Amino acid sequence: MEQDLCPNTLPSRAARGKRFAFPAAVTEWMVRVRRAVERVGTPCYVTAWAPMAAALARLDTLPSPLPIRSWFSFKTHPLLALARQWLASGRGVEVVSERELLAVLALNPPVDQLLVNGVAKHSWLQRHRLPRLRVHFDSVNEIDALLPNALEERWRVGVRVQVPDEKDAREPAFRGQFGLSRREAVAALFELADAGADVQSLHFHLGQHQYQTGAYERAVDYVASVCADAGVVPLYLDCGGALPSAHDARNGAAMDDLSRAIARAAERLPGLREIWLENGRFVCEPGTALVVTVLDLKERPDSRYLICDGGRTNQALASRATSSRVPGSSNRWVAPGTIRSWFSHRSSDCAARLSSITVWSRPPTMSRVGARTCASLGPARSGRPPRETMAATGAAGSAAA
Ligand SMILES: Cc1ncc(COP(=O)(O)O)c(C=O)c1O
Repeated sequence: MEQDLCPNTLPSRAARGKRFAFPAAVTEWMVRVRRAVERVGTPCYVTAWAPMAAALARLDTLPSPLPIRSWFSFKTHPLLALARQWLASGRGVEVVSERELLAVLALNPPVDQLLVNGVAKHSWLQRHRLPRLRVHFDSVNEIDALLPNALEERWRVGVRVQVPDEKDAREPAFRGQFGLSRREAVAALFELADAGADVQSLHFHLGQHQYQTGAYERAVDYVASVCADAGVVPLYLDCGGALPSAHDARNGAAMDDLSRAIARAAERLPGLREIWLENGRFVCEPGTALVVTVLDLKERPDSRYLICDGGRTNQALASRATSSRVPGSSNRWVAPGTIRSWFSHRSSDCAARLSSITVWSRPPTMSRVGARTCASLGPARSGRPPRETMAATGAAGSAAA
């Protein structure tokens, strides 16, 4: 289905101006986008559940000796309607900040469907009384500060381990700020067990750095050896997110690696009951569009620049053929019949393929999209944040956005 959402074949010049039959999924997106724009204007997100459910089904059915549970990485796409749908599917939501926690608590999730990750939680988590909460500690200081709460409220806890393949996406020389080092993790697990904390899970997340072959297996081996050193037998292993998008050439290898890693985890950690995943991009990308209005247009020798009311500034990144790790939006495809509303898919994979479309519009010019604000990689949106609209997309195409 995702394929259909980003067609890479276009009508020839001769066909321009004639009626062109888009694949059904594309037509459905266009209908949804129009309906959303009529309702809330731009910028707005339009999100469809069915493509995400299909991505989740792929994860649920990965070859695995253990059940797989996918948590919603709320920060990836913080739409309440999406969190509600996710909870209704029986899965849980993972939050990394107080703001996210409060937003998700408004949906009254069972505590079993809530997982708290993220850095520096000791700066805010004490403010909330949530018995039996699931929490992954990210640092030694966090544990020191939150241990009394963990004991008193019988939190089910774990630690995030920084695994060998974790690197900063932009500065690979740096390992990044997340998780505990091996030595810290072993000491922390001893401390938690000695204090009588309910240690149930171990967590790693490969991060935003480009996927490296075998990274999941290496991570599982690393975490398993931490468990062995600490004498811990976890019930759950959270393998985080980091799967490349379905369009990414590395996706197949990563999925295979993840399957092998899960099998390895079952072997090395025989107490495991479930594998947890928290894939953001892989799950959200096929079901998400950011809709913006083009406010201004500048024809320049190097590019055609489109100034939009939302999205990221200057989409040079999206034009890099395989820069799939860097989120970005591309606004190069104008929905037929509209001149103001442009479809912007969140994936730069998709954007890369859409770049061929510029040949159709004005060869050899490439269009770049900017917002009114100025930023590089940040979510530089002008004025209003995008609003959300979401409705279930049934297989029969019962869109209601
Ligand atoms: C803890 C955690 N889980 C899951 C995700 C989702 O990651 P991805 O979109 O790479 O799957 C992130 C994103 O950085 C994260 O920090």
